[in-house]
Amino acid sequence: KGKLIKLLLDVDTGIDDALALFYLAEARKKGEIEILGSTTVGGNVEVGQTTLNTLNIWEMLDLDIPVAAGAKQPLMAPLNPAPFVHGDDGLGNTFLSSPKKLPSDESAVEMILRLSHEYAGELTLLTTAPLTNIATALLHDPSLASRIGKVVIMGGAVFTGNVSAVAEANIANDPEAARIVFRSGMEMTLVGLDVTHEVFWEEQDLKELVKIANGRSAFLIQIIDFISTAYESLSGWKRCVLHDPLAAGVCLFPDLVKSEKRYVDVELNGELTRGMTVVDRRGRTPLGEENMNVALEVDAKRFKTQLMESLLTWVREG
Ligand code: BDR
Ligand code: CA
Repeated sequence: KGKLIKLLLDVDTGIDDALALFYLAEARKKGEIEILGSTTVGGNVEVGQTTLNTLNIWEMLDLDIPVAAGAKQPLMAPLNPAPFVHGDDGLGNTFLSSPKKLPSDESAVEMILRLSHEYAGELTLLTTAPLTNIATALLHDPSLASRIGKVVIMGGAVFTGNVSAVAEANIANDPEAARIVFRSGMEMTLVGLDVTHEVFWEEQDLKELVKIANGRSAFLIQIIDFISTAYESLSGWKRCVLHDPLAAGVCLFPDLVKSEKRYVDVELNGELTRGMTVVDRRGRTPLGEENMNVALEVDAKRFKTQLMESLLTWVREG
């Protein structure tokens, strides 16, 4: 096996972000990755809450991973949080008590820049949130791009949308930031709704989990149920869609998805299309300008099983 993956996470924890953290914690235990730090941003709920949630999840997992608080607001437009999807507390109205640890003294941007120097060329950046922190760090120091190994972004879509017909929440919450990141020259993979919508749990997928009666399973069931019910009222399907966990999975196992190398930009001004990821899939043009890998197919079964196994391992130890 190659070198250990060194991860830096940028999150807006959030129910599916939390599931991604559980998954990554298990991978870390198995010695598959190192988690160097986590930065937070406003998204699903405001940044004060996403910071508390991230601290709380690491605490549940008994992990001492620093959490640096980041941007309160997108670069230009106001934030559109989604408490109806993630709960007023961002974690399905479980209203956890305050975490024992405090956020880091450094800001998200400071943490991103520091780690990019300490691990130049080696960092994998996983983003499951609006790209405000990453864009701000790039604006501060454009040479950051050359020190990042690769970036896996949960965001965007080729053929669909969620907050609008064509826009996905993480990109739509800060399209200007997304454009800065997309144009940065970093090696990027976009894990968008085309693949994340294929990976979800329904009631029958949760059978093993509900059999275990302890606090850990009760917490997971509550957050999964909250987001599934919210999704049902929006879409008609009672499902927990595993957006952020899938992006985490792609960091570890890139072959979970099939992707195409394409030129992708973000629409900033469209009357109906602001925040849309515009993916140029023309055969020949603009040759040489492809800026990222865009995931188009996913081995959903393999990932759902893998993710559930990670959760069950943690739950059984509780
Ligand atoms: C993305 O938006 C957030 O609601 C989720 O946490 C995920 O990162 C899905 O569009
Ligand atoms: Ca998220």
